Amino acid sequence: MQLGVCYYPEHWPEQMWAEDFKQMKSLGISHVRIGEFAWSRYEPSPGLYQWEWLERALDQAHAGGLKVILGTPTATPPHWLIKAHPEVLPLDHEGKVRGFGSRRHYCFSSKVYRELAREIVERMAQRFGSHPALSAWQTDNEYGCHDTIISYSKAAQLGFQSWCRERYGSIEALNEAWGNVFWSMEYQDFQAIELPMLTVTEANPSHRLAFWRYSSDQVRAFNQMQTKILRKYSPTLPLVHNYMGFFTQFDHFDVAEDLDIASWDSYPLGFLDQSWESPRVKETYLRTGHPDHTAFHHDLYRGVGRGRWWVMEQQPGPVNWAPHNPAPLPGMVRLWTFEAFAHGAELVSYFRWRQAPFAQEQFHAGLHLPNGDRDQASFEVEQVHAEIKKLQAHMKPGPSNAKIALVFDYPSEWILRVSPQGKSYDPLRWSMEVYAALRSFGQNIDIVPAAADLSPYRCVVLPNIAHCSTAFLKRLKAFQGSLVIGPRTGSKTAELQIPQELPPAGLQDLIPLRVRRVESLPPQIKMPLSIHQEECFASFWREEVETKLKASAEFADGWGALYEHRNVSYLSACFDFETLRVIFKKILEDAAITLSKSAAGPGLRLQERHGLSFAFNYGPEAVTLSNKRSYLVGSAHLKAAELAIWKTEEGEVL
Ligand code: GAL
Repeated sequence: MQLGVCYYPEHWPEQMWAEDFKQMKSLGISHVRIGEFAWSRYEPSPGLYQWEWLERALDQAHAGGLKVILGTPTATPPHWLIKAHPEVLPLDHEGKVRGFGSRRHYCFSSKVYRELAREIVERMAQRFGSHPALSAWQTDNEYGCHDTIISYSKAAQLGFQSWCRERYGSIEALNEAWGNVFWSMEYQDFQAIELPMLTVTEANPSHRLAFWRYSSDQVRAFNQMQTKILRKYSPTLPLVHNYMGFFTQFDHFDVAEDLDIASWDSYPLGFLDQSWESPRVKETYLRTGHPDHTAFHHDLYRGVGRGRWWVMEQQPGPVNWAPHNPAPLPGMVRLWTFEAFAHGAELVSYFRWRQAPFAQEQFHAGLHLPNGDRDQASFEVEQVHAEIKKLQAHMKPGPSNAKIALVFDYPSEWILRVSPQGKSYDPLRWSMEVYAALRSFGQNIDIVPAAADLSPYRCVVLPNIAHCSTAFLKRLKAFQGSLVIGPRTGSKTAELQIPQELPPAGLQDLIPLRVRRVESLPPQIKMPLSIHQEECFASFWREEVETKLKASAEFADGWGALYEHRNVSYLSACFDFETLRVIFKKILEDAAITLSKSAAGPGLRLQERHGLSFAFNYGPEAVTLSNKRSYLVGSAHLKAAELAIWKTEEGEVL
């Protein structure tokens, strides 16, 4: 459990650095992330490198006993570069250039940019790769932020054409895979392929999916270009990228294969304001963030990092970029930090040390005000540090011991996003709602890719894996535990066509049913039904299923809602949270998973890690934990934004 902070030496007079580093240390901060946007100071004009200032910053951080995470600056190409090579700029879906003056103004497909980025990364790695202050490298910054994965540039078109040639082999195969005979969309050769933009009505979904796949591959290639260089000059240092929340536009599992640690940038209040949650939920958790949104991402990125993960940027106060930017309740920065540790984070790093008095993020809090005075979060960080010291003696570090796995698959996400069928169906939302229901029983959850080993789990849930590969199907067949298959799973081929055998395609070997008809519903429609004698509701999505199995629950019109066969359950609708709880309660109990009795409070969340149990109160009301423990941190009585930590007892049910 280590603490870090993001720091921009180029924003402050050099005389301040040593004192800043000293203060970081005195708050208990061990890591400082530096350098990810400073290209215009590294290379103020083409080929003129000025590394001395960064060297002095690294030396001083080192002298101050801090470990540095050094970022490559490729998210912010300087103005001279754009002037000399305007073709590196990305193009939006209307073909308009996205210009200089903020950040991420580059196209992943640009070969010219890749070469220029390679050059700066190599120079930087050469110069600092073995600097004793360095403890890790961060590649770029937030791939995809500001909607920048997809660019409709000429370079992207050329790149996509050769990618298609490689994937499909012949133009006939491509036409077949995309179903281009429909509306005379057939191409005669690969050079003729257009980008899926500016079409009169919807572009062919298979075409769009292919372009998303291609774009994801460009992110991996761009990142890999950097990791190869960084490994050459820093063979022993871990490589990390800072991913984002609520963001699925490239395959993170894929990119992570070239990295050692996953990290993500956690802004709970901004995310909630931008999310699909109802006005009532947004009001309840206005100053705490949603109790499950952050946890979902922690578990996802632990999976992406193959067990090793950090929070690279933790919200420290109000931010600047959401539609509304409330201040967190006092105590929330501490709570968010411990929630990350409770999910296995090795490091939580705050964004940023000192609020910037200039440019775009003036309204973004830091640990300090622009004048250097301490802001609320710096006191909380100090408290966290003292509490970590107390906990250390009681920790038994170890891997996640979750009994439940939720499978997350980026290409399936894209299939459902490209072709949602109903405006209100959001694949990420559905995965997160399934997660929240499972978590409400006080269970730790692993979020894993389709390639994961499923044998450690008692229950595996596929919320919506639209396409299941043959290898995945094989692993699912071998899985002995309880398997829960959500609607739309197995509903498309890899190229986004309806499978010949009808959905859920190969999963029919596991549960004998076929989906004949689907419907999407507007958000105000709630379809009532009874499940296990409880009043329940479906929303957004239903499927009509053909099967000899008797449905375990049915709607009034005869459409089934839940089917069970041996160890497999199939949900043929999307349900609300309470209904999911009714369904999962029985499934988890049947899978011999003991459910928590104390997890019921609406804002109370429980987690177990490293031999410690954690309780967090995100709700506005105080809660009292029913168990009698000797608490290492906090007490049984938790006001809003408070937490408690105690030693997990053998066989304890939280
Ligand atoms: C992140 C980004 C940071 C900073 C922060 C503000 O998306 O990586 O550089 O802009 O947001 O919340």
